Amino acid sequence: MSQIDPTRERLIEVYRKKAKHYDITSRLYPAPGYPHRAQRLRAVQALGLRAGDSVIDIACGTGLNFPLIEKVIGPGGRIVGVDLTDAMLARAQGRIEANGWSNISLVQADAADFDFGARVDAILSTYALSQVPECAQVIAHGAAALSGRGRWVVLDVKVPDGTPGWLAQLGTAIVRPFASIDEWIMRRPWEAIRAAMQEELADLSWTELLFGTAFLAAGSRAGSAGSPS
Ligand SMILES: C[S@@+](CC[C@H](N)C(=O)[O-])C[C@H]1O[C@@H](n2cnc3c(N)ncnc32)[C@H](O)[C@@H]1O
Repeated sequence: MSQIDPTRERLIEVYRKKAKHYDITSRLYPAPGYPHRAQRLRAVQALGLRAGDSVIDIACGTGLNFPLIEKVIGPGGRIVGVDLTDAMLARAQGRIEANGWSNISLVQADAADFDFGARVDAILSTYALSQVPECAQVIAHGAAALSGRGRWVVLDVKVPDGTPGWLAQLGTAIVRPFASIDEWIMRRPWEAIRAAMQEELADLSWTELLFGTAFLAAGSRAGSAGSPS
């Protein structure tokens, strides 16, 4: 990352401050008791993983998805965790060492510039991609790197359809403290994510979760033959 734009710098600063307590504080948003773990599980299941698979976790943060992925891919598989914020990756590294995982590597990079490589079995991004203005580009780059049966899964929060603007602002104010909430609501990034996945993947499934406060989008490059049963 030779040149970081000011928006990215602000975002990194925010996540540097959050990193230490992220695993606990993230449970409180968008509301205490929000079922993140159940949603994460659904997202990992939607990857249709097999033992030995290679998985890229885009904007992996502190690595909260790693144990769920490791359980399926086992020691013969591989995870690459990508994130912009050094302090979040440092927490992820601590989790890797505490669990003795030797098949996870971490890359500090902007998702928009990340080189996905080739023949990737699965790509996951949870509660993060809507923060990346170039989300459509990230989806396209990832899709091009997927193996024949490879799957792309995105889980993220959204504003429920039909929510009045003032209520949307209130609800998202705590979740998106680093940037203009107005901008996030106006940009409606979940729509760009949906459109890009529809464009790039053969069999997109789109599921609204918890009254439309989140979505799970999943698809494969090859179509339903590659989908999990
Ligand atoms: C809300 S956290 C989610 C972390 C993790 N995916 C999870 O489910 O707990 C958002 C993460 O996205 C990362 N992030 C934001 N913009 C990014 C970008 N352009 N490229 C890579 N990571 C980014 C932040 O550093 C942060 O770790």
